[in-house]
Amino acid sequence: MRIGFIGDIVGRPGRKMVRRFVPELRKSERLDFVVANYENASHGFGLTEKNARELLGSGIDVMTGGNHTWDKKEIGGLLEALPLLRPINYPEGVPGRGVRSFEVEGERLAVVNLMGHYGMPMVDNPFITANRVVEVLESEGIENIFVDMHAEATSEKRALLMMLRERVSAIFGTHTHVGTDDLVIDRGCAYVTDVGLTGCRDNVIGMDAKVPIERFLTGLPGRFEVPDRCRAILQMIVVELRDGRAVEAYKIRAYDEGDREIVLKARMEV
Ligand code: FE2
Repeated sequence: MRIGFIGDIVGRPGRKMVRRFVPELRKSERLDFVVANYENASHGFGLTEKNARELLGSGIDVMTGGNHTWDKKEIGGLLEALPLLRPINYPEGVPGRGVRSFEVEGERLAVVNLMGHYGMPMVDNPFITANRVVEVLESEGIENIFVDMHAEATSEKRALLMMLRERVSAIFGTHTHVGTDDLVIDRGCAYVTDVGLTGCRDNVIGMDAKVPIERFLTGLPGRFEVPDRCRAILQMIVVELRDGRAVEAYKIRAYDEGDREIVLKARMEV
């Protein structure tokens, strides 16, 4: 099966790029399933019902979350009603779920959403939780396991790869909004530390540069805003899985000017 993964969709410019490019990428890249991260999709913080339905109607099959999952109050009910995840390592009793499985091309695919530790809310240990959930999926006979590791620290993401590379099909990082160039297939597991944002590419992590500059100059708080006008980008990792193992992975960037390019191809490490 062929899966497309889009990292953090940031605000209206990001949603616009999804609407414009995902339907055509599904065809040109022969994608069977598309995953994206929603946590910054509505005004840069959280997800509204309207935007959730719009994104899921634009060729995305399931969406993952992160520390900003809770920023819009209406998310509570949506997490059950729609194919949405929140990090699995929130404590017991928190609404929503962190793993869902799907039937794709006659095979089962599990999508897991994890959140890192450094600089993140106090949640359960992501490594212990990951071991536990993978064990459950293995016991259910699910071979295709896809992980969104939503984390700040590159070391946590890389350590997760080292720990799980023989047991899961792909681990892709989100949260920093800045794409990294370390796409690799290691022992059948596709990995990149961060996919990078889909949204404004010409400001600061998808937000209007004015506020962060002011914050860095003064140390005073300020509210981030998504710019009304900007140069936008969509970044997607495409991965092909066979019998639960990644056999090909590459990264596509699409620009609001209309062009697109393959910018990374995974090196195979055996
Ligand atoms: Fe985040």
